[in-house]
Amino acid sequence: MAKISAGVATSHVPAIGAALDLGKTEEDYWAPLFRGYDFSKRWIESEKPDVVFLVYNDHASAFDMKFIPTFAIGCAEQFGIADEGWGPRPVPDVMGHPDLAWHISQSVIQADFDLTIINEMKVDHGLTVPLSLMFGQPQAWPCKVIPFAVNVVLYPPPSGRRCYNLGKAIRRAVESFDEDLNVQIWGTGGMSHQLQGPRAGLINKEFDNAFLERLVNDPDGLADMPHVDYMREAGSEGVELVMWLIMRGALNDKVNELHRFYHVPASNTAVGHLILENTE
Ligand code: DHB
Ligand code: FE
Repeated sequence: MAKISAGVATSHVPAIGAALDLGKTEEDYWAPLFRGYDFSKRWIESEKPDVVFLVYNDHASAFDMKFIPTFAIGCAEQFGIADEGWGPRPVPDVMGHPDLAWHISQSVIQADFDLTIINEMKVDHGLTVPLSLMFGQPQAWPCKVIPFAVNVVLYPPPSGRRCYNLGKAIRRAVESFDEDLNVQIWGTGGMSHQLQGPRAGLINKEFDNAFLERLVNDPDGLADMPHVDYMREAGSEGVELVMWLIMRGALNDKVNELHRFYHVPASNTAVGHLILENTE
C-alpha cells in the first residue's frame, strides 16, 4: 500500500528561484538561506520519495478571475512551467502520477471535499521553487509530483480547519491506494509577508516562530486560527500559511521533527522550513 512517510513545509519566494537560476546561491545575501536546505537535500536523497503531493498556490498563472478553484488537483501526466512575466524558469517539466491523483480525487470527493480536477495546467514558482530548494538543479525531477493548488490569492480562502481536515482525508486516500509507494506531502507558501499597500514588507518573527512551533506540536489548536489573525500578524499574503495545515493534517498527531529553519529576509519575505517524519 502507499504511505505518507513525511511532510515538508517551505516558503516558495520567487526570488529564490531567480537566485538559483542565475547562479547567485553563494552570494552573501543568499548563502545563509541555501545553507538552511543542505540537510534537506541530503535527507531527501536518502528518502527517495516516489511521489510528492505538493500543496501550493497558483499566483494568477494557471487561473485568473475567470476560474478560481478553492482546491484543484493536477491529474495530468505532465505539467509545463508557467511564464510569470520573465519567461518560464529553466527547470524540467513536472511529471504527474495520474493513477494516484485520480484515486485521491475519487476518495477525497466522496469524503465530501470538493476538488476541481485539472487535466492541463502550467505550474508557477509556488510549486517549482520548493522543488528546486529540495532537489537542486537536476536534468529531470527525481520523482513524480501531484500538484495541489489552493486558492489563497482571492478572498475567500479556505479556513485552517478545513485545510487540516482535508489533509486527513488525503492521508486516508493515499493509504488506500493499492501500490507500494513512498509518498511525501509538502505544504508551501508563507511565512509572514505582505507585498502590497502601506504594510508592504511586513515581517513578524515572533508570529512565524510561534506558528512553526504550533504546527509541529499543537496543529489541532492552530487549525482554529481565523484568517484575520493571519492577516493582522503575518500580512495579507501570510494567509498562504493555511496550506501548511493540509500537510500537517496528513501526518500523525505526534511527529518527529527532523529539521527546522527560519530565515529573514528573502526578497520581502520570511522563509520557514520544516521536515516532519511520520513516526510509526
Ligand atoms: C513573493 C511572492 C510570493 O508568492 C511569496 O509567497 C513570497 C514572496 C514575492 O514576490 O516576493
Ligand atoms: Fe506565494
